[in-house]
This record gives sequence, C-alpha cells and structure tokens, in this order.
Amino acid sequence: MTKLLIKGGEVVTGASAFHADVLIEDGVVAALGQDLGHPDAAVIDATGKLVLPGCIDMHTHLEAPHNELDDPSEGAITCDGFRDGTIAAAVGGTTTIVDFATQSPGTTFHETLQQWRQRLVKSPPAVDVGFHMIVTDMGHPDAEQDLADLCDEGVTSYKLFLAYKESPLWVDDSTLFRVAQVAAKSGALVMAHAENGGAIEVLQQQALQRGDKAPIWHSYTRPVRTESEAVARVATLCDIAGAPAYIMHVSCSEAAEVVAQERSRGMRLWAETCTHYLAFTEDVLLKEWQEAVKYVVTPPIRESGHADALWSALRDGTLSVVSTDHCPYLTRWKNAATDFYTIPNGVPGVENRLEVMYELGVRQGRLTVTQLVERLCAAPARLYGMFPSKGTITIGSRGDIVIFDPARSKVISAATEMSKCDYSIYEGMRVEGSVESVLFAGQLIVQDGKYVAENEKGAYLPRARFVDPI
Ligand code: URP
Ligand code: ZN
Repeated sequence: MTKLLIKGGEVVTGASAFHADVLIEDGVVAALGQDLGHPDAAVIDATGKLVLPGCIDMHTHLEAPHNELDDPSEGAITCDGFRDGTIAAAVGGTTTIVDFATQSPGTTFHETLQQWRQRLVKSPPAVDVGFHMIVTDMGHPDAEQDLADLCDEGVTSYKLFLAYKESPLWVDDSTLFRVAQVAAKSGALVMAHAENGGAIEVLQQQALQRGDKAPIWHSYTRPVRTESEAVARVATLCDIAGAPAYIMHVSCSEAAEVVAQERSRGMRLWAETCTHYLAFTEDVLLKEWQEAVKYVVTPPIRESGHADALWSALRDGTLSVVSTDHCPYLTRWKNAATDFYTIPNGVPGVENRLEVMYELGVRQGRLTVTQLVERLCAAPARLYGMFPSKGTITIGSRGDIVIFDPARSKVISAATEMSKCDYSIYEGMRVEGSVESVLFAGQLIVQDGKYVAENEKGAYLPRARFVDPI
C-alpha cells in the first residue's frame, strides 16, 4: 500500500480552513489531524502552504471542432487533445475535468458516448474525465429512453445550445423542454448555453451587410439581454418540466440578476461564470486584429462593471462555480477569419484558473480562500455527482490534492505552459501564489510546478445522478 503524509499545511475545504496533516493510503485520505505520523509514509512538507482539494473544471472543450460538429479536417479543432489538455489541467491544479460528448444529428446518445470514450483510449488522460451529453437531436426512435439511460453509464448532465442558430448545435424550445422532461425523471441536470440565437443571428447578418467586420462586433451583436432572456427561458421551461438547471458561462450582471431572482423563487437553478469574464473587459476586442481575435469567446467579454457584479454574485452564492470553458484554437485558425462572424470562438485557460482566481479573488480581497475552494472544488463536485469523493478533503475522499504556495510568484506565459495553445490570454500576468505540487489518487503528478507523472491513472469518470445540494 502506498502511503503519503502531507505535513504542516493549512487544509482548505469549501467550509473551513484549518491546520492539519493529511495521510493518504492507497489513493484515499485515511487520516486528518494534528501531528500525524506513519513509519512507512513518504512525507511532503507543506509548512506555509495551502492544502486544497484537486480542482474540478466541469466546462472544457478538448479535441473539439469549431462549433463542435464541423469536420475537423476542414476547420479549426481545439489544439489540446485529452492527453495534452489534462496535463495542462493538472499543472494548473485541476484533477478532474468534465468535457462534452457531442451528438451528431442522427446518432444515438449511447453511440455518441462510446465514440467519446474511445477518444480517451486513444489519448489517455492524465486526470479523470467525465462527459456531459450535448443533445442536438431528439428525432431518433426512443430518444427519451436513450437519453435517460445515459445516467446508468455515468453521464448525468445534458447540455443544450440556445445559441448558434446557424449551427446544428442549436435547439428549439420544444427540444429543450423534452430534454428537461427526461432530466426530471432520470436524475440529470439540464445545462444550457443561454443566449437567444435567433436575435443574435439577425444582428450578426445586419452587421456583416453593413461591412462591420471587426472583432468588437462579436460583442455588439450579442447584447446582454440576449443572454438574460435565454436564462429566464431556460429557468422557466425547466421549472415547468420539474428539472434542475444550470446556466453555463454567465457573463453579465443582467443574466446574474435573473439567476438570483429565479433562485429566490425557489427554482432549482445554479450557474457558473468563467475566469475570463472576471479578468478582462470588452476593451480587449478593440485591440488590433491579431490581438483582439485571441479574446473572441461566447458569450463575449463584457464592458467594465459586469466583472464587479459577477464577483459579487460569486460571494453571495448566486453563482456557484467558476469554470474555464477552455476552448483553445491556435492563432492561425483565429487569424484565418476575415470577419468577427467566422473567428473560432473560445479561449484557453484550463492551466490558469486556480492561480488567476487566487490572485484576483483571494489576494486582491474579493473572495476568501474557502469561497475559492467552494467555487472551484466543492460546488462542481456536488452539482455533478462527485461529492464527497472529490471536491473536499475528508476521510474517505480521493487523494486528489493540490499543494498551493502563496509565496511562490510566477508570470504567466504560453511559452512555459503545457497546453499546446500558442497564446495565453493571461500572458504577462504576475500571480503571487502558484501550484507547487499535485497529487492524483495519492500519486505525485506535479512537483515544483512541473508535470512528473509516468504511469498516471486518469480515466473515464462515471458520475452519480443529480441530488439537490443542501
Ligand atoms: O466561445 C466558446 N465558449 N466556445 C466554446 C463553445 C461554447 O459556446 O461553449
Ligand atoms: Zn463552452
């Protein structure tokens, strides 16, 4: 049995922070307490460091074609595969990701899941990988039963795109409602990319006809109320169907306000924002073309003022999670576009979330360290069927642990990252505090900030059905 003792650190969970040693035996936390000793355990000295649960990123797009369904040979595909992307995640303190299995219209959900699990066989992950099912088509026989049965295979969240009217990903309200009815019975969570695709498509075509092509038009054609309208619609339809719902990448105060209102009415609604909405303002889209394209992500990064509202919503619990929406396209794909409409949407970030959130959140006084752990570890674990095995440090939980050194500063640069992306939106940002070591199932996979694993055991992660968090 492998034994590892982490001594002298400050253990942080979503509920509290306390000084304790942590003994991990055979990949699982076996003891937690003062002055623990064990004759055969290897010891890691964590004096002066934070001992955090491995972070969970439940919104990544690895090996994803632009708008998910294009033929990768003809269009941009995200440049991190499951192996590269999970190594990047690990170095950034994330030991679990939940990515997407995308249904091609006409394919069953069961077949879709098998296809995506095959990708993990071809590109073995460094950390655990779960899948949400992106539903595009409920037209096949027994679609409802097929979708419900996914829960037995560990896929307990269904994602729907209300955005991208021009793409096969977009679904109408009937499909959203049918999926919500299935989720209400099967024990799954409905996840939505909530933007009004119809209105946005009109605004986009009008802009293109006028010759307004610059990256800033990505933002101008997606007004904040196209987001808040869709949030309200998802909340309403899921409420009627009796399903719990989760809004992805909330980017603006209007959308956060709708989430708050629906939650205060008792709606089973949760929501996330992403690191980039907290770190930047819309001005990044006004930079020269080659710089501005790097920040084209959907929903767009908003005007100043929205980030403050999102921080406040993270503090008061309106927003439960911070994800990355890691969706890295090489700059050559971004630059191949000739107008805002064809720039592949998405930004990298899986390697940076913990360090950027610690810097902007904890160090700059916007969040406490326990709030940080709640939003990056505990809440995603609870909402996505992994708690308390993951998302916390307690006896019996997995030995997925990050040793974070608040005194270890670094300057973020794509040149030193494990992600295959050729740029970082955080390039040049100095963070006071960074990831020193990462344990995955009790095995040291990151040491002194470097990936050191040789036979790590990342695998497909089946998740439990949705249970309302208390
Ligand atoms: O711009 C983004 N977010 N790209 C990834 C796909 C999506 O809409 O989440
Ligand atoms: Zn996304």
